[in-house]
Parts: sequence; structure tokens; C-alpha cells
Amino acid sequence: MRQSNGIQVERVQVIAHRGTAGYAPENTMASFERAIEMNADYLELDIQLSKDNELVVIHDSTVDRTTNGSGAVKDFTLEELQSLDSGSWFNEKFEGQRIPTLGEVLAVCRGKIGVLIETKWPYLYSGLEQKLADELASYHMHLPTERVIVQSFDQNSVKRFHAIMPQIPIGVLVEDEAILAEDKLTELAEYVAYVNPALELVTGEAIERIHSRGMKIFPWTVRSRNVIQPLLKLGVDGVITDYPDYLSQE
Ligand code: G3P
Ligand code: CA
Repeated sequence: MRQSNGIQVERVQVIAHRGTAGYAPENTMASFERAIEMNADYLELDIQLSKDNELVVIHDSTVDRTTNGSGAVKDFTLEELQSLDSGSWFNEKFEGQRIPTLGEVLAVCRGKIGVLIETKWPYLYSGLEQKLADELASYHMHLPTERVIVQSFDQNSVKRFHAIMPQIPIGVLVEDEAILAEDKLTELAEYVAYVNPALELVTGEAIERIHSRGMKIFPWTVRSRNVIQPLLKLGVDGVITDYPDYLSQE
């Protein structure tokens, strides 16, 4: 917290996107450990379900881009997914990195860094939100004292999660300007704490509309130093970035 005109203002939050995706293979333990070392406030990660119904951390609906395998995530068991190499595609020095389970990440993060969890392609995974709630509870990360936020592009998914675990703050990811209209934001404010738009949608007016309804804004994804100061001047509450150290240097 810092003081501004006598009002308590929270410091801009630094959210390490897919871990530190600019420095290490995204959504791997190497990437998340780097985010902790860089003192990011949160790490962001993407969750899906394996064929045998385990929560795994991976962005794409297939393993093709980020592993040495090929095929849909949902068609692999956890054991099969974890036999893949998810580091070498980024750099050979990361050979041996594996697709983590959400539980493996939570065990490392608890008490060290906040976690911004995105339900990815939730229409593919019946029961994803219940499974997430169960996993958070088993790591005691369902408590209001823990820094956990659950977000999605899919508003039905976050609504389902909110109905199960209403104490966890909800984020809605935005890549359609229409969601930043007055009426839509008023509707979202009934259950949403964070409105997280693509960088190109961020304007002073949109921030004012979000803030005036009691919500916060974490834009994504900062990959260039040039955009940081303009965002901070506009008054964003956090920045989702592949390079968390860029923010700590501001
Ligand atoms: O958290 C924002 C960001 O993760 C949304 O886009 O495609 O990187 O999941 P994507
Ligand atoms: Ca994401």
C-alpha cells in the first residue's frame, strides 16, 4: 500500500503470465519458480483436464506447440502427459520440464505468490470448475486469506465456479470491446472483481467505468517496456506480463 492524497492506494500488481513466459517455457515449474524469484505478486496459469480427470497446467488444447508430443490434451492420461518434454521447444537447457498438475504448482506457490488461474477451453471439460474448487480446498487455498483469483474468457465457466466457491474473486478476460460497455459492466459487477482486457482495449474511459463499479483491471499481455508507463498513467491495478522484471524496474 502507498499513500496518495491521504488515501490508501494499492501498489500496481505484477502478474507473471504463464509464469515468466519471456524467460522460460510457459506453464512449467521452471517458469513459475522464476516468477517467485522475481517477486511477482501473482503468477498466471491455464488449467485443463487430462483424460483421467486430473487438473493439468497447459495453455493450448493440444500438446503440439509446447511439448514433444502431438494430440489433444483431453486424450492423454496424466501419466502420458507427464511423460512429455515441455521445455526443449523453448530452449534445450529446459529439457526435462514436464506439464505440471495444478496441485504441484499450488504446493510450491502457497504463501509465496498469488495465483491467477484461468479455466481454459472449459466447454471441453465437464466438471472442470468443481474439480478446481476441490483442488483449492485440498491445498487450503479456498480461504479468503489466500491470494487466488479465478478467471476465464468464458463467463459461464466463472459463473459456475462462483456458484461453488463464492469467496474466491472472479476475473473476466475480455477481447471484445462490447464487454466494456456500461450495461455489460454493470451486469458483470454482480459477481466479478477483475475485468482483464487485451492491451489494445484499455482506455481511460474503460478504466473509469470498471473502477466506478468497484472492479479492478489487469490488462494483458505486456511484452514491451514501452507500454508500461502509459498503462500505469491510465491507472490500471495490475499488469499481466511475460517479463515481470520490467515492472519492478519502473
Ligand atoms: O491472463 C491473460 C491471458 O492469459 C489471456 O490470454 O491466451 O495467454 O491465456 P492467454
Ligand atoms: Ca491464460
